[in-house]
Amino acid sequence: MNNLAAIILAAGKGTRMKSELVKVMHPLAGLPLVAWPVKTARETGAASIVLVVGHQAEKVRDYFAGETDILFACQEEQLGTGHAVASARQSLAGFSGRVLILCGDVPLIKAETIRAMLHHHQQQDAVVTVLTASLPQPFGYGRIIKDQDGRVERIVEEKDAAEGERLITEINSGIYCVESGFLFSAIATLKNDNAQGEYYLTDIIKSAATAGLTCVSFPVGEPVEVMGVNDRLQLAEAGMVIRTRINEAWMLAGTTIIDPAATYIDQGVRVGRDTTIQPNVHISGDTVIGNDCRIEPAVVIRNCRVGNNVTIKTGSVMTDAIIHDDVAIGPMAHLRPGTELKEHVKIGNFVETKKIIMGKGSKASHLTYLGDATIGANVNIGCGTITCNYDGVKKHRTIIEDDVFVGSDVQFVAPVTIGRNSLIAAGTTVTKDVPPDSLAIARAPQLNKEGWKLKKKSD
Ligand code: UD1
Ligand code: CA
Repeated sequence: MNNLAAIILAAGKGTRMKSELVKVMHPLAGLPLVAWPVKTARETGAASIVLVVGHQAEKVRDYFAGETDILFACQEEQLGTGHAVASARQSLAGFSGRVLILCGDVPLIKAETIRAMLHHHQQQDAVVTVLTASLPQPFGYGRIIKDQDGRVERIVEEKDAAEGERLITEINSGIYCVESGFLFSAIATLKNDNAQGEYYLTDIIKSAATAGLTCVSFPVGEPVEVMGVNDRLQLAEAGMVIRTRINEAWMLAGTTIIDPAATYIDQGVRVGRDTTIQPNVHISGDTVIGNDCRIEPAVVIRNCRVGNNVTIKTGSVMTDAIIHDDVAIGPMAHLRPGTELKEHVKIGNFVETKKIIMGKGSKASHLTYLGDATIGANVNIGCGTITCNYDGVKKHRTIIEDDVFVGSDVQFVAPVTIGRNSLIAAGTTVTKDVPPDSLAIARAPQLNKEGWKLKKKSD
């Protein structure tokens, strides 16, 4: 499979998306639409990939910044698919081999299908192979016209087709394999004398056939693979197909997914064996989840590392956090960026954390805000504890050493350090450091006035 380059057509605006954002940058299971055909091209072995960009070219470039196998060709004006391929010519100067042409808005095509098409191309000694599908409703697509030997003679667009041609159900997917020498010489001869006034890439087939060169079709197994995304209905439909593929792969690898139709695991996420995922869970970004975890309904996890045997209860939201083994979280916990929970930590309901490290076996079981804090091992954080980390200008840290017991309703006015093995009495507002092995208590003394009665209004 040497000497393969890919051209991905992605210059169009995508008018039917009715969006400020260019179509190919709309997210689909964690990647922009155009990243899916890029992934397929890579998996097929394309050494260089030319992205033909036009509308919001900068957004596409920024997304792929630093990915050295990707070259960009700018098509300022979108004068047709043939013109788009011509724009890529400069980027492939000096290249000789097979060119795989993909569309930026056809995300479901599988690498195994492309590999089979390339194999067919080679076996048939073809100069052009076009990937086709048979659709009961071929409306809108280019139709495949064949000679009596079954070779492709030309492709006719819906708008240019004669009545009889419109009855043909074999359609052009817009995906091709073409010999580079032929491709760039044929592209140079294209004309735009058709119903849409565009330079049609499909016209290269007629020039090949006329010159006696072999053009063949390769039928795709599942028509859904060549489905284009033109509007948001198709975006949602493609999302369902991709999520099904992702979920099936994790289930076959040993993850239990209770309801795959209602489980949202993005591309790039990894999930371990014997982990169970309940419905309506969203896992995205650079997330790795270990083995034997239990993830309850309505949990949202983004960019997190989660160890083994972790329980994440209903309604918890976690972003950019590191969770070690045997931790329990939630229900309704909010772990914000920079949270690291060591082994056997317990975070209970209505606890919010941000930029904290919590040592082995420590607990914050209820109603607490812990921000900008370093908490040692075996620390108990009582209900209603607040780290007062922000003075209106700067953030300050709270340090709580090992084996400290914090009673309920305690405020730590940071910066403050609590020495190991100390006890902070309930209701205390801590404004000074506490030495190790001490009791800190700061409460207004209680006054009981005996015999006190509320005055009645009638008195
Ligand atoms: C094209 C094919 C048609 C096929 C269909 C499959 C031609 C002439 N027709 O039609 O036979 O059935 O795809 O979906 O090729 N693009 C550019 N620059 C341009 C024009 C298009 O980059 O100047 C890109 C678009 O952004 C899109 C892709 O090429 O990703 C296909 O273009 P589109 O206009 O959708 O082609 P169709 O008319 O649907
Ligand atoms: Ca299209």
